[in-house]
Amino acid sequence: MKFFIDTANLDEIKQAADMGVLDGVTTNPSLAAKESAPYKDLLKDICKIVPGPVSAEVLATDTKGMLTEAEDLVKIADNIVVKIPTTLEGLRAIKALTDKSIKTNATLVFSPMQALLVAKAGATYVSPFVGRLDDISYDGMELIEDIVGIYNNYTFETEVLVASIRNPVHVLEAARLGADVCTVPLKVFGQLIKHPLTDIGLDKFLSDYKKAGKN
Ligand code: E4P
Repeated sequence: MKFFIDTANLDEIKQAADMGVLDGVTTNPSLAAKESAPYKDLLKDICKIVPGPVSAEVLATDTKGMLTEAEDLVKIADNIVVKIPTTLEGLRAIKALTDKSIKTNATLVFSPMQALLVAKAGATYVSPFVGRLDDISYDGMELIEDIVGIYNNYTFETEVLVASIRNPVHVLEAARLGADVCTVPLKVFGQLIKHPLTDIGLDKFLSDYKKAGKN
């Protein structure tokens, strides 16, 4: 499974990259709005830090506008993936961009049928938002199970990118289901490596050694 970090913050991206297991980055307009630098400048810097896929979201809501923005975004760096909202206008844009060999990430996916359509249109990634479904008392991971199952019935190349992850259990379940990618906030990245028994065990190993007078 690939790990992306879900942020537009350069320090957070550097910290995640430093862990040695970072494959890519996802951003969105809300995340970009938290930073002081203009979105395109941020993307340029992010692409210098991370050689893997960096999702950059369009702001237009009509197909023509999305395509114009996409052409502009892909000029920033070779690893830019254009993030497109999963609407009818977005579906048309994904198809047109696929025809031009431009990589896309279909975002704001909340149903298996949205996922099926964007795969047919050739999206490189589909981003189902599990946390936001959990927030309204739906089971976000059930959506991942549906999408992985449906894609496995056919020969789609679209990768399932689990988004809106809120905790390590989302990542665990995504891995059990065979999702291709998880995009996680830095806090969750840190939680994944932590285990209290590891810390307790390490303390004991070191104190036993010291007590025995070894150095
Ligand atoms: C994914 O690409 C989105 O940027 C992100 O995962 C949204 O997460 P949120 O629901 O925590 O805002």
